Amino acid sequence: MATSMFLQPARFFSKKAGINHVLVIGGGLMGSGIAQVTAAAGMKVTLVDQSQDILKKSLTGIEQSLNKIASKKFADDPQKGKEFVKNTVCQIETVTDPEQNARHADLIVEAIVERMEPKQALFSKLDKVAANHTIFASNTSSLSISEIACATKRKDRFGGLHFFSPVPMMKLVEVVRIAETSDDTFNQLADFSKRVGKVPVACKDTPGFIVNRLLVPYMMEAVRMLERGDAKAEDIDTAMKLGAGYPMGPLELADFVGLDVCKMIIDGWHKGDPNQPLFSPVKTLDKLVTEGKLGRKSGQGFFDYKAAQQAKKK
Ligand code: CAA
Ligand code: NAD
Repeated sequence: MATSMFLQPARFFSKKAGINHVLVIGGGLMGSGIAQVTAAAGMKVTLVDQSQDILKKSLTGIEQSLNKIASKKFADDPQKGKEFVKNTVCQIETVTDPEQNARHADLIVEAIVERMEPKQALFSKLDKVAANHTIFASNTSSLSISEIACATKRKDRFGGLHFFSPVPMMKLVEVVRIAETSDDTFNQLADFSKRVGKVPVACKDTPGFIVNRLLVPYMMEAVRMLERGDAKAEDIDTAMKLGAGYPMGPLELADFVGLDVCKMIIDGWHKGDPNQPLFSPVKTLDKLVTEGKLGRKSGQGFFDYKAAQQAKKK
């Protein structure tokens, strides 16, 4: 798969780029990945989450991912591979207080829970302490960047930086500009995306940008198909993998993204556009989330991952 881009940061390094220290907020699935690729590109990273316990898990996940990459890239020289992993992890410090660390960052990337209020509250606090030149970016999947940016007085230095999961493997970043985003900010965000080995595309601040506007309704249609009893979960996924060439079926992909994240996206869009049938709430999704079945991260979603996860631990 696409490991080579991740391992060639120097090629993308822009000498003029002003981003050397990145504060990543949220050490979950996405924040960990963003921290990893940023550190591997040689930038200093401060990773923030609510507790050191969570951050410990984030670092373990980052190390596992780096080990996978190193075992391929440095197959002939395991010592070099170990150094690559160690040096990359050393570029990442973990903290629980974003405000104390914001003033040193050139770029702040937020990857916390997919809700407007916590995102606005966070950026509002950071706006008061961050340096004047610091660019703010949100990795939101579905919320309005413009609305998040309203919590700050730096709309010209605000944009969306939408990575895809798993971050070390997926090559795309959607760079979202709002009306006030300056050309310099947009260019710096696009340049940063290239430095971390990704391909940036420019997006307007519309619900779901490009990918999720197409992908999320597709996944939700698959759940509705399952609810109608048109096909079994396994068959829906096999059909889309073998019949359409997708690497994962829609239900496995929903589990992979996180059913809580999928629910927050579709519920938010439904609130904004209740007449759009593609955005209508999905009963099975609601039920699974209520039961704590959040997909791969909780061990159970449309499919059961517990056995595979336990086998991996042994
Ligand atoms: N870190 C490092 N390496 C990883 C990795 C990670 N996190 N995940 C997978 N890999 C590597 C594996 O080690 C493996 O390497 P080899 O081929 O050298 O053995 C390779 O990637 C392939 O992995 P697997 O064999 O385990 O499985 P796969 O071939 O199915 O690939 C996948 C895994 C890349 C995730 C692929 O299934 C895929 O592309 N799935 C679709 C992902 C997708 O659509 N993502 C977008 C989700 S939507 C989103 O993110 C936006 C949003 O806002 C919700
Ligand atoms: P996640 O649940 O895996 O991680 C979120 C992390 O944020 C958790 O570790 C949580 O403890 C932490 N957090 C919550 N509030 C915080 C706060 N105020 N300060 C510091 N940390 C806080 O979620 P995720 O899947 O990584 O998603 C994060 C963001 O990225 C969301 O906006 C989501 O929509 C977006 N996104 C998700 C995916 C995906 O495939 N899951 C893809 C692209 C974008």
